[in-house]
Amino acid sequence: MKLDQVINLHDLQTMARQRLPRMAFDFIEGGADDELGLRNNREAFERWRMLPRFMVDVGQRDVSVELFGRRYSTPVGISPMGLAGMFRPGADAMFAEAAARHNIPYIMSGASNESLETAARIAPDHAWFQLYRTLDEGINEHLVGRVRDAGISTLVLTVDVVVNSNRERNRRNGFLRPFKLTPSIALQALLHPRWTLDYLRSGGHPMMQNWQPYAAAGAKADDVADMFGKLTPASNNTWHSLEKLRRWWPRKLLVKGVLHPDDARQAVALGADGLIISNHGSRQLDRTVSSLEMLPEIHAAVPDTPLILDSGVRRGSDIVLARCLGARFALCGRPMMYSVAAAGSAGVGRAIGILNNEVDKVIAQLGCPRFEDLSMDYLRRA
Ligand SMILES: Cc1cc2nc3c(=O)[nH]c(=O)nc-3n(C[C@H](O)[C@H](O)[C@H](O)COP(=O)(O)O)c2cc1C
Repeated sequence: MKLDQVINLHDLQTMARQRLPRMAFDFIEGGADDELGLRNNREAFERWRMLPRFMVDVGQRDVSVELFGRRYSTPVGISPMGLAGMFRPGADAMFAEAAARHNIPYIMSGASNESLETAARIAPDHAWFQLYRTLDEGINEHLVGRVRDAGISTLVLTVDVVVNSNRERNRRNGFLRPFKLTPSIALQALLHPRWTLDYLRSGGHPMMQNWQPYAAAGAKADDVADMFGKLTPASNNTWHSLEKLRRWWPRKLLVKGVLHPDDARQAVALGADGLIISNHGSRQLDRTVSSLEMLPEIHAAVPDTPLILDSGVRRGSDIVLARCLGARFALCGRPMMYSVAAAGSAGVGRAIGILNNEVDKVIAQLGCPRFEDLSMDYLRRA
């Protein structure tokens, strides 16, 4: 499949599947344990039906959204995703470039390959940064200082990775550290020569550039990844960690991974400016509730706080649904990684364009010409 044949996000997944070795595709696609949560994340969207209104002039429509003092062209951003450079060299920079071009936010992962300074240079108004708190408080504070000095507007603290989860696809495929080249991995590489050539030409495993300064001089990509693996996940996170971060960080602060309404209240009480309602794309706790299920309760708990819905978004209609249930904005994860793996920055642009067109068509069909005016009035339970 070629990029000009792509008509929806599923096609980008197909393209990525063709280009990537199985273990790389599986790393992106996989969930935890039995992967029940992957299905649950989709089923949550399927439990709602849309109730259109007619005889409304929808000749002029507006899908843009105001968020933290900025108007974005489409109500979706790119979820933070680590290791993107593995799937296409320079992928983080491509995300930043596509986000700036299409005027949407891109959240650089705390486990990215490119540096946060690079993202800020490419997309000064669109790159946000996601922080994984580490066990080393000195590094945490220093990193937050770098994000501030780079001029980044928004810091996202991910709270839902308390231990490394059980991802069985990675264990079976050998997508683990330390990496061992097995005959089956070598065969996969041979069967996907375009990916393999890119990987070899760019020097193999990409460096986690944000972490390089904290490693010994001359540390290689593997050494830096090992160091990161020792420092994270920080299983000792508490609300005090958020309080401290609030003191260090002067600009917009979001908490990602909130699912319980009481956690939402607490995060807001401690100074979070917004919340990303997410179950990490069901990559952590397999039997967790879906983020969409919890959205109405969380909206009721913190009605004045901007909520961003993440996990399971695959269609513009999903974003419309999330808006009706109380979200201001949405994030999209895996499909964005597939798009960059499949076709670089142009692929990401295509994914954004598809979601924009789908949202636009759905609000027209609902008889609600402004995305921001959507409400529960347009929904009924299936
Ligand atoms: C390959 C991959 C890497 C990810 N890395 C991170 C990360 O570094 N930090 C983070 O907060 N979330 C990470 N996530 C979770 C995403 O930010 C997001 O919550 C999830 O992908 C949303 O679900 P979706 O893929 O169904 O859209 C990652 C997800 C994927 C697929």
